[in-house]
Amino acid sequence: MNNIPTNTQMDRKNSPGCPSIIKLTNISFSYPGSENRVLDCLNLNIRAGDQIGMIAPNGSGKTTLLHTIMGLCKPDKGSIEVLGSPMETQKDFTRIRSEVGLLFQDSDDQLFCPRVLDDVAFGPLNIGFSQQQAIEISLNILEKLGIKELEKSVTHRLSGGQKRLVALASVLSMSPKILLLDEPTTGLDKTVKQKLIHILNHLNITYLVISHEFDFLKAVTNKIYSMDKGRVLTDEYNL
Ligand SMILES: Nc1ncnc2c1ncn2[C@@H]1O[C@H](COP(=O)(O)OP(=O)(O)OP(=O)(O)O)[C@@H](O)[C@H]1O
Ligand SMILES: [Mg+2]
Repeated sequence: MNNIPTNTQMDRKNSPGCPSIIKLTNISFSYPGSENRVLDCLNLNIRAGDQIGMIAPNGSGKTTLLHTIMGLCKPDKGSIEVLGSPMETQKDFTRIRSEVGLLFQDSDDQLFCPRVLDDVAFGPLNIGFSQQQAIEISLNILEKLGIKELEKSVTHRLSGGQKRLVALASVLSMSPKILLLDEPTTGLDKTVKQKLIHILNHLNITYLVISHEFDFLKAVTNKIYSMDKGRVLTDEYNL
């Protein structure tokens, strides 16, 4: 995260000429056994450099949308492209998982190792870094998030806010090209929230952040979308 241009150095407002990074076309999805279409002919185009916020009522399908982008929910209809490639098989989704970092809404879905450092180093190890490199990367991220002292802690005994930060560290340690953050501020105190704002504002990557906190979204994104009736509304809150 060092030596990268800040958002203020980027054109934060618009990216109409930039390539599409995630493109969903006419996506419909219902959970198995349910007739309720959570996503209903949904279209979404995220371009390189977009830093998009999403705010919408509980149950409107935000988490389902992120899971669909990651291949965790299989749409009944429609097509998905990520980084220019069509996502048609589970293999396609597996291939892009190191490039697209998803912060799950529930930290317990993200963290599965006994100790914090193992959880954060898991991703880098998995993509081929040596043990030493993975530890170095992980300690660096933990330090940036201000939680280096937790490196040896037992993950499941952490507080909710601490788990949130460790989960975020485990996503950032992969250096993803795209970040999908599902309510990253849950359980974070004011100081830590400010730190997260600072970190996001210094990450020169494309992201989509879901939150119920409008001020937080305003501080870290350049446009804010909403969802209604299974579709994304892109002109709801233009900043
Ligand atoms: N595993 C599941 N099985 C069946 N229905 C589900 C499942 N997960 C979510 N749903 C339903 O899908 C709809 C959308 O849920 P989703 O979690 O995507 O909403 P959300 O916008 O993320 O809500 P929140 O703001 O509360 O996180 C809800 O009606 C929910 O009950
Ligand atoms: Mg949700």
